[in-house]
Amino acid sequence: KTVYRKNYTPPSFLANTVDLTFDLDPSQTRVTAKTELIHNPQSKSTDIVLYGEDLELVGILLNGRKLAAGEYALENGLLRITKAPEVTRLEIETLICPDKNTTLMGLYLSNGNFFTQCEAEGFRKITYFPDRPDVMAKYTVTLKANKKQFPVLLSNGNLVEEGALPRGRHYAKWEDPFNKPSYLFAIVAGKLVCQEETFTLASGRKVLLQVWVEKGNLDKTAHAMESLKHSIRWDEERYGLELDLDRFMIVAVGDFNMGAMENKGLNIFNTRYVLANPRIATDVDYANIESVVGHEYFHNWTGNRVTCRDWFQLSLKEGLTVFRDQEFSADRIGTKDGRAVKRIEDVRTLRQHQFPEDAGAMAHPVRPDSYEEINNFYTVTIYEKGAEVVRMYQTLLGREGFRKGMDLYFQRHDGQAVTCSDFLAAMADANKQDLTQFENWYSQAGTPRVKLRTRYNKKAQSLSLTLSQSCPPTPEQAKKRPFLIPFAFGLLDAKGKSMVVNSHDVTVRKKLADAPSGTALVQLTRKSQTITLTGVPEKPVISALRNFSAPVILEYDQSDEELALLLSADPDAFNRWDAGQRLALRHLLRLTHAVQHKEALELPSTLVEAYRSVLANDSLDPAFQALALTLPSEIMIAEEMKEIDPQAIVQARHFMLQTLSHSLQDEWLKTYQTIRIPAPYSPEPDNAGKRSLRNLALSYLMEGDDKKLMQLAVTQYDNADNMTDRMAALTALTHAGNLTSKKMAERCLRHFYREFRLEALVIDKWFALQATSPENGAPEMRKLADHPAFTLKNPNRARSLVFGFCMNNMAQFHATDGSGYDFWAENILELDRINPQIAARLSRALTQYNRFKPELKKRARKTLKHIASRKLSRDTGEIINKILAT
Ligand code: ARG
Ligand code: ZN
Repeated sequence: KTVYRKNYTPPSFLANTVDLTFDLDPSQTRVTAKTELIHNPQSKSTDIVLYGEDLELVGILLNGRKLAAGEYALENGLLRITKAPEVTRLEIETLICPDKNTTLMGLYLSNGNFFTQCEAEGFRKITYFPDRPDVMAKYTVTLKANKKQFPVLLSNGNLVEEGALPRGRHYAKWEDPFNKPSYLFAIVAGKLVCQEETFTLASGRKVLLQVWVEKGNLDKTAHAMESLKHSIRWDEERYGLELDLDRFMIVAVGDFNMGAMENKGLNIFNTRYVLANPRIATDVDYANIESVVGHEYFHNWTGNRVTCRDWFQLSLKEGLTVFRDQEFSADRIGTKDGRAVKRIEDVRTLRQHQFPEDAGAMAHPVRPDSYEEINNFYTVTIYEKGAEVVRMYQTLLGREGFRKGMDLYFQRHDGQAVTCSDFLAAMADANKQDLTQFENWYSQAGTPRVKLRTRYNKKAQSLSLTLSQSCPPTPEQAKKRPFLIPFAFGLLDAKGKSMVVNSHDVTVRKKLADAPSGTALVQLTRKSQTITLTGVPEKPVISALRNFSAPVILEYDQSDEELALLLSADPDAFNRWDAGQRLALRHLLRLTHAVQHKEALELPSTLVEAYRSVLANDSLDPAFQALALTLPSEIMIAEEMKEIDPQAIVQARHFMLQTLSHSLQDEWLKTYQTIRIPAPYSPEPDNAGKRSLRNLALSYLMEGDDKKLMQLAVTQYDNADNMTDRMAALTALTHAGNLTSKKMAERCLRHFYREFRLEALVIDKWFALQATSPENGAPEMRKLADHPAFTLKNPNRARSLVFGFCMNNMAQFHATDGSGYDFWAENILELDRINPQIAARLSRALTQYNRFKPELKKRARKTLKHIASRKLSRDTGEIINKILAT
């Protein structure tokens, strides 16, 4: 069942045109697919191979002649027509049952409306087809449906015809002028309304933009529309890429497996990434919407115009498009340290989710070598590490060099289905550079470790830096070749002033993207490498791996004092933040150890004072202050431990929060009381940054069991005119974990439910917030799962409660009595019958189980075996078995 990258063969037939007709009916939809296929000269086979899943085949016509049952073979989801003519016109009729489709792949219903999701292999649930990305064709689509029930009929491209049909039905015909693979096909049909606007492109051409939602949500589309317009502008300005259609649609759907989908001209989005107004959406929601709208829009070029040859190349479009959306969001912030703030958030995501993935049972290269179920490879490695890989080209080649590479990539490959190597070649050729070694980033899994050792020679006024790299073994890859690592760094003197870097060995590049002057770039290519800097008048403090110039773990011992100096003075804002994180992490690990050995817990004043000065420094961007004062997460602490002890981690982290709460109480209170944010609410970054600092202060204040302080949160909850402040107050109360707050939280939680019971996305928040409360364990989760508003059928709802608990409530999920694991297993098994993709995601919660302390490891293994003993989907089976294999 495993598919291997090395077994790629070109398709035997290519498709020219596809003409689809849908007779839409919830219980039985008839699909007629007329495809013109031409033999591919690059293939020796003369068989037509079509994929199909859960289809009822009604009949096949080949060049107008009906095929008898003996003239094709149909087995295991493959329909094979042997010795087909050079040019073959196929007409295939199938029946499908959208209302029984709970997998949310192919054609399905959500709240009575039709939607499709075809990436990666959902099109084969609609009709028999060469459903692979290297088969690209022009599509014409006719939709027929009852007019009352399904007044709106949408598909890719342009509407070319519509009209009435007998018996209360109507039709619409759509034509997509561009060649596309089947995974970009989409239809939508139902009761929807839209906000629309004519928009003028830089070239002067006018296009129609639409955001489609259910009727009650028309007051929540403005931000998505704004985001779309900004995305279009940004791609014109930064990459010279223009929207190639006359019409661009976004449709929101409440039941969706992922975030959103870039179907040509008809992007389909999880409601979560479209709907917003101040009442229901937080600042983070607003920012996420902008970035996902950007992401899907940017796919139009990086994904659709140039697509993937096969699914092993997924990161070709995803890594590149995430990089593009990160840059878009960074440019959009516009505050002093705005780009750095975005960079910090992205690196946090990478460390929180991708580093653990890369260190566990599901570790895989950015370009995997094999898979059982491709849906399991829509991972943080493909997306976020893939984006880091793309970012490294920009770091190595500069912004201009990167742009040259992009231009060449489109020049060479527009309209094609290509590979990651093609992208690398475009970057290398456009810049006349040899990037052969860079390929290792695509082929090797695991997070590389870079060790830095320094030696200062006072007499010679020289500094030597020895950089060495290693990469731990990952499944099927014991030994690794060295990576090409761009290592950016700078030097500070004892007062925190930048020093000049002199050396023959390093490029000091003025145009290094996102680096303050004085930043040098070393290309680490060997296992170990030493460079010598001259003219260094005093022993410097080194600011290493500036702006996180490579997705690696830096091993470099710096004293608390050095880290505190970097935190206060490094001109690289990212490293200022990172110094604070490294300082905190070191003490969190020490405290965890102390908890485990029942030693006294203490926090050194260096840390408290470092935090105090960040808080007091009002020349800093508040968004930056908030990030700098947020402790490394429990997962980040766990990543640094040989043997993970979840309860000790949670206790240690809690102790640090409490200590910082007490020692800095006056400062927190002052921060809370003096930050003024102009009314009315606006999600723009300046205000959002202030809110995040103010709400962080509130959460620290809640750590002490002080009724007066608790009252601040209740007051904020009651008076809030926006979801950010409301949610922050409620979370602070709910998570504070003392008796005073508990009573207050209960009242607010009840009020919150009543107030927002009609807003599905807010009810998700209500579940998530309780699922992640350190007070709540498996028994509370079971109670919540019995709540009438809970259902596993809706992925957002399942994620809010079950994933919230299993992935974001460390001490309770890993409860030593095994109650968390039992809850997890039950939900996996139940979900697997409904929606294998979501069940498989949930299964990943224990990919690192064998790093946990022995009693948990034993329980986890027992639970995993129990799950494995049941009949599982291919999705869930692959994950569970790979975990058990480690
Ligand atoms: N291409 C989409 C995006 O990143 C993700 C779709 C993935 N869907 C899936 N069922 N695996 O924007
Ligand atoms: Zn994407």
